[in-house]
Amino acid sequence: MDETFAQSDNPEKADFYRRIDDDNLYPVWEAVKEMITKGPQTDAQPHLWRFDDIRPFVVESGGLVSGEDAERRTLMLENPAMRGKRCITEALYSGLQCIMPGEIAEPHRHTPSALRMVIESETGYTSVNGERCAMAPGDLILNPSWTWHGHGHDGPGPHISMTCLDVPLVRFLGPVFAEPWTGNTVFPDGNPEGDSHARFGANMLPMDHAPTAPTSPIFRYPYSETRDALLRLAEVDSHQDPSHGVKMEYINPETAGPVLPTLSAFMQLMPAGFCGQTHCTTAAWVYHAVEGQGRTIIGDATFEWGPRDIFVVPAWYPHRHETDTQSFLYSFSDKGVHQKLGLYRELRGEEADALIS
Ligand SMILES: [Fe+2]
Repeated sequence: MDETFAQSDNPEKADFYRRIDDDNLYPVWEAVKEMITKGPQTDAQPHLWRFDDIRPFVVESGGLVSGEDAERRTLMLENPAMRGKRCITEALYSGLQCIMPGEIAEPHRHTPSALRMVIESETGYTSVNGERCAMAPGDLILNPSWTWHGHGHDGPGPHISMTCLDVPLVRFLGPVFAEPWTGNTVFPDGNPEGDSHARFGANMLPMDHAPTAPTSPIFRYPYSETRDALLRLAEVDSHQDPSHGVKMEYINPETAGPVLPTLSAFMQLMPAGFCGQTHCTTAAWVYHAVEGQGRTIIGDATFEWGPRDIFVVPAWYPHRHETDTQSFLYSFSDKGVHQKLGLYRELRGEEADALIS
C-alpha cells in the first residue's frame, strides 16, 4: 500500500480514500494539522561548530581534493537534524572553503547567490565579474547570482572562508544551474581593483546611476570599516538594543535593503558583560564570532562560543546572547526574504521566553 494512502478507522472513509487514491487525490482534512500548525515549524535544530575542532578537517581536505577542484573544496555545515539535505536550515546553505597557497579556484557563475565571510587569510583575493578584491579576516564578500567569481591565494597557510548560499531556496523554486569560465584568461576581464567600493562604498551613488541588478554593486565590505562603524555608533548612542547590542545590516546602497534579494547579512557589537533579552524570529540565523567570547542560550540549551566558532539558530527558536568580552558577531539570515513576502514576525522578552518551557 502506498505510504501516502490516507488511513481511517471509519469503513466509509477508508473505502472513499482507497477509491480516490488511484486518481492521485488526498483528503485535506486528514492532513491539515500537519500542513498548517499553530506556530512556525522547522526541521532544523540548534548546533555549534567549534572552529578549532573542525579546522584540521578543512585543512586536510586541501590534500584530498586537487587544486583544479579548489572551487568546490568545501566542507558543508549540515544541520544535524537535516543530514543529507545539504543545508544548515530549510532555506540556507553554509560551508567552509579552503584554498591552499598558490592555488586558484577557477571562475564560474551560478544562479544561486553567495556571501563569503573570510575567517582565515593573509593574502587571499577574489575576482567578481573580473574585479579583484582582497580578502582579509572579517571581510564580507558578495558573489551575486550569475556573476563570475573565482578566488586565489598567494600567501602562506590555508585560506578559509565561510560561504553562505541560497541554494536550498533556489532549488525549491527550480532554477539551479551553473557555467564554468572557459575564456583564455585566468579570470574574466573587469573593472580595476577597488572600483565597486570607490563608486558605491561611501554612502553615495554616482549621479544618474541606474541599477542593473537587484543585488548590491559592492563586492567587498572590509571588516576594518564595519568594525569602525559599529564602534562609532556605540560611542555616540548609549542606547543599545536589548537583544542585539549594536547591530547593523550590510546594505545594498541602491535600495538600502539587504545586500542580496535572498540573503541578509549583519554584524553586531556587544560589550563585555552584555546580557541580552530573549528574542525569536520566523527567519533562521547563522552566527560566526569574529571576535570575542560568550554564550548564546537557544531554547533550553547553552552554546559557549569563542573566536571563529559558528552556530545556527533555526526559525522561531528563542535565543539570547551573553558576553564575557567585547564581541563582534557576524550573522546571515533569510530575514529579507521573509520581509519581502510579508512573512516576517518576531517576539521579544517575555513573549519569547514563554516559548521555552
Ligand atoms: Fe561559486
